[in-house]
Order: sequence, then structure tokens, then C-alpha cells
Amino acid sequence: MDPSIRYGGASFDDWPTIAALQQMMFRDDPTALLQEEFMFVCGGQGGQLHVARCGDSLAGYLLSRQKSYLPWETMAFLAVDPRFRRRGIAGGLVQKALDDAQRPFMRLHVRPSNLAALDLYEKAGFRQIGRRSNNHADGEDSIIMMGRTGASLTFWPSDQATKTA
Ligand SMILES: CC(C)(COP(=O)(O)OP(=O)(O)OC[C@H]1O[C@@H](n2cnc3c(N)ncnc32)[C@H](O)[C@@H]1OP(=O)(O)O)[C@@H](O)C(=O)NCCC(=O)NCCS
Repeated sequence: MDPSIRYGGASFDDWPTIAALQQMMFRDDPTALLQEEFMFVCGGQGGQLHVARCGDSLAGYLLSRQKSYLPWETMAFLAVDPRFRRRGIAGGLVQKALDDAQRPFMRLHVRPSNLAALDLYEKAGFRQIGRRSNNHADGEDSIIMMGRTGASLTFWPSDQATKTA
């Protein structure tokens, strides 16, 4: 791992940089991260926004979303600033999301044409579990991938809790 890269959580001040990176890499994506959700997640609700920093620059980010009723988290918007690519930053962000996950599984969607991302996710242990046709505005499918995290199923209600609820 590159010691000059620091991984951690996003802060409220990161929004302009993340919005600019998002505009560069996910332009016209109707599901793009909105400032409202960014603020919500930064405030510690609904997921985690992992960032990689190099010196004073925000080099990349990755959103991991959680829903209380699902046994997986959903990874979205993995992006690395073109100036910092091929230095292991995306791999580091994915590993950070897997290490910090609170659900035993991590799920994501990726375009079949995004061979770099597919290779990256396979190296991180993700496996293809399905496909959603015509999932993008331009008609491209999504490959659905699932990976294991280090978390256990502790959030699942025990039989006892269910009986007494
Ligand atoms: C895909 C992306 C996140 C990779 O970021 P990165 O920090 O350069 O990736 P890493 O250096 O951590 O690379 C990890 C692995 O990913 C794969 N990879 C990354 N970039 C690649 C490229 N340009 N061509 C082929 N494989 C690539 C390789 O397997 C690489 O392992 P290696 O270095 O041992 O060969 C970055 O190119 C990006 O932001 N792309 C635009 C946004 C995007 O496509 N996000 C993913 C949405 S699902």
C-alpha cells in the first residue's frame, strides 16, 4: 500500500471536490449522488463515504450505502481522480469499505464495458451473481457483483428477540 495515501471518512467540506469529480466521471447519471445524501451520509446516517487523500488533494472516493433490512451494503460511485490512477487507490478504497462494513455482504453494479472496474472488483474477491438488462440511460446492462466483508450477521434479529418483540 502506498504510504503517501491516507484513507478515511469524508467531511462536509469535501462536497465541492466530490461534486466536481462526480461531474467529470459520472456526467448525466440520473442516480448521481446529491448534496442532500452526501450531507446525510457525512452526518453518519445511511452509509459511509470513504475518501483517499494525497497531500492536500482528495484523490478518490467511494460510497457504501446501508439499509436496515438488507444483509448487504451497496457500493456506488467508486472514482479516482485521473491524476492519481494506477497507484492502488481504488483497491485501497474497496478494501476500506469491506473492512468497515457492518453487513456480511457487499453488492455493486458495474457496466460490462468497464473492464478496469471488473478486473478490480474480481481481484477484491467479488463474484458476478446476475445481470440487469438495459439498466443505463444509454441501454447498457449492469453486471451485479457480490463480495464478502469481514462483518457477521449480528444485526439479524435472534429467535428470542423475535418471540419477545
Ligand atoms: C476504475 C478506477 C476506479 C480504478 O482506479 P485506480 O485507483 O486507478 O485503480 P487501482 O490502481 O487501485 O487498480 C486496481 C486494479 O484495477 C484494475 N485496473 C485499474 N485501472 C485499470 C485500467 N486502466 N486498465 C485495466 N485494469 C485496470 C487492475 O486490475 C488493477 O490492478 P493492477 O494495478 O494490479 O493491474 C478509475 O479508473 C476510475 O475512477 N474510473 C472512472 C470511474 C469508474 O469507472 N468507476 C467504477 C464504477 S463501477
